[in-house]
Amino acid sequence: MATTQVQENVLREEGRLPRTPEPGVVVIFGASGDLTRRKIVPALYDLAAQRRLPMEFAVVGISRTKMSHDEFRERLRKALEEQRPGQVSEEVWDSFSKGIFYLPGDSKDPATYEELKGFLKKLDDERGTEGNRAFYMASSPSLFPTIVERLGEAGMSREEDGHYSRIVIEKPFGRDLKSARELNNDIREHFREDQIYRIDHYLGKETVQNILALRFSNGIFEPIWNQHYVDHVQITVAEDIGVGTRGAFYEEAGALRDIVQNHMMQVLCLTAMEPPVAFDAESVREEKVKVLKAVRPIPRDEVKNVAVRGQYDRGWVFGKEVRGYREEDDVAPDSETETYVALKLYVDNWRWAGVPFYVRTGKRLPKKATEIAIQFHKTPHTPFSGNDTQGLEPNLLVIRIQPEEGVSLKIGAKVPGSGFEIRSVNMDLLYGTAFSKEVPDAYQRLLLDMLLGDPTLFIRADEAEGAWRILEPVMESWAQDGEVAHYPAGTWGPEEADKLLARDGREWRRP
Ligand code: BG6
Repeated sequence: MATTQVQENVLREEGRLPRTPEPGVVVIFGASGDLTRRKIVPALYDLAAQRRLPMEFAVVGISRTKMSHDEFRERLRKALEEQRPGQVSEEVWDSFSKGIFYLPGDSKDPATYEELKGFLKKLDDERGTEGNRAFYMASSPSLFPTIVERLGEAGMSREEDGHYSRIVIEKPFGRDLKSARELNNDIREHFREDQIYRIDHYLGKETVQNILALRFSNGIFEPIWNQHYVDHVQITVAEDIGVGTRGAFYEEAGALRDIVQNHMMQVLCLTAMEPPVAFDAESVREEKVKVLKAVRPIPRDEVKNVAVRGQYDRGWVFGKEVRGYREEDDVAPDSETETYVALKLYVDNWRWAGVPFYVRTGKRLPKKATEIAIQFHKTPHTPFSGNDTQGLEPNLLVIRIQPEEGVSLKIGAKVPGSGFEIRSVNMDLLYGTAFSKEVPDAYQRLLLDMLLGDPTLFIRADEAEGAWRILEPVMESWAQDGEVAHYPAGTWGPEEADKLLARDGREWRRP
């Protein structure tokens, strides 16, 4: 029997059902763009389908394209249908789309904000959205400061009568330390830090959150999670795709800004951080910031010894010949932009002293694989003969973020038979088989948390700046000298990356 609204409310109050956000409106700047269609609206639709949104909820899209409310709805509906053919529920879409609206307008023009203000007021009266607003920056990053300023001037950043006004910002948070600071300062002229939600979609991934679950809900890992037991750590974000249609964006970004500054630094923080006192925004983010502060600064003249950049040339991926980066659309034929980065970092604190963290990311590698590999020290002594232990490798714990989400532990085991031959085998946990629940998309989780006012999985200003600080010398050095190394598409990156580990007597894993 379906529960009634009254029963649901009672269960929620007792904490036996998940909380539902307060009534409110999500205003999307840059609403005609890709992100709105591909990520934001589908995530909100899924939340609506799971009845995680209040009835008094609305979405208002703004961009310069001229469109009616209905044309905007139709466009979103089409995109949703393309994403999940035959799976869009008419009933859910009907009720959800009644709350979708569109305002054509120039986000630089103060008049747009006066109009928006009036429109939101009308929605409060007609749909009961109660004056709560979240402003989502899905536009071009160069417009972020202007939009924030206009919102502030129009009085829309003020939280009155207990109603919230939040701002959601997509990466990039600046393009270096200086611009990140400026952006943070610009935003803070109008919004307090606790009104700002900086999105890194990696933090919305279940398996990224599972790093914390694995470390802090199991007694057996923490005691060995340190330099006494860990030889080194490898963090990999490998992609088989190229830059596709994003050549123009990528030329400005490169892999260091696109992936390392945000996703990889976050994964590094979660792997290396101390146990937080509680799973709340300040406790978790405080510990992450401490890791960033502990990362050893790279002297400019050391960059060449600890950082490698590469760019893919023509090659073969999954049996298909693909173009080189310089042949991609909107890419300069002599571009030096990196599509691959490998770095060696140290976290100089009690726990990690002397343990290298090797991180690498690349496009057009042989497969998509994101993982953290914790390589433990060799056993101090094996009582078995050298011949018997030839197939034995040190213990290795691999946390697979995607795909085939799970955890595996490499252990030594006896090969069946009369001798005592030992070989390494994997103990494997696949999350997909352990839980029958469907894994929600990262945006679903993050948007819901934002609407509930929980910033735990969002980036604080000092985190964004801390990550830029680490990479600053690398960016400066690359901007001034040295050429990008090359690798054929479909391989594991340039030779220089292998040499980076070979110098330490180690090698990269093949995920
Ligand atoms: C984005 C980058 O932030 O992350 C893309 O801009 C990249 O270049 C993407 O492809 C990878 O995300 P995921 O979730 O597929 O690992």
